[in-house]
Amino acid sequence: MIVTIDGPAGAGKSSAARQLARRLGFRFLDTGGMYRAVALAGHRRGVDWSRPDELAAIAAELTLEVTDDAIRMDGQDVTQAVRTLEITTLTQFAADNEAVRRRLIDQQRALAAGNDVVTEGRDQATVVFPHAECKIFLPASEEERARRRFQDLLARGEEVDFQVVLDKQRRRDERDVERPFGGLAKAPDSIEVNTDGMTPEQVVDRLEEIVRARRG
Ligand code: C5P
Repeated sequence: MIVTIDGPAGAGKSSAARQLARRLGFRFLDTGGMYRAVALAGHRRGVDWSRPDELAAIAAELTLEVTDDAIRMDGQDVTQAVRTLEITTLTQFAADNEAVRRRLIDQQRALAAGNDVVTEGRDQATVVFPHAECKIFLPASEEERARRRFQDLLARGEEVDFQVVLDKQRRRDERDVERPFGGLAKAPDSIEVNTDGMTPEQVVDRLEEIVRARRG
């Protein structure tokens, strides 16, 4: 069974999807981490960000190993390194790059093949797994999402300003929605769960309920 969870940045998708996968005994696929890893590789190799073909070439050679709680790039654990504010900003170059997207989509389908999976991203229900058995759309208000992201960055020891986080998130939301290929959109056959005011535990409970009802 494939369960897709799509939504904007900071709606609590990653942690909810990971917990849900654990409860169901499914694999967990963090597709944002894959785009982040491509951006990190570009950054480390000094890519010219105005040259999409350069980043595509880097992505084509990259070996990504994605497990339930870690992402390895060419054999090195980059789980934490991909989550800094700098890499978060650069990740848009990977997400906007159609050749990169096509490569990662193929990898996502290969990772899911023959498995029960909870997969999380922007385009999982609309592009990558249009025939998924259970599709969930997970939005939340922009203030609440920015607050969560701000606290997350503080906990990681990054020095950040709330307004900066909110502004960056707004720009990221716009780009995520406007991206012509793989942009954030709610699939018509998805179930929407707005996470405003819900605790992470309540979100996972609700998602588990939806999946179990769908499984019958
Ligand atoms: O979910 P996360 O914040 O880790 O995603 C990082 C970025 O990667 C998002 O802002 C989005 O632009 C992009 N992304 C994407 N398609 C996905 C997952 C993430 O374009 N399936």
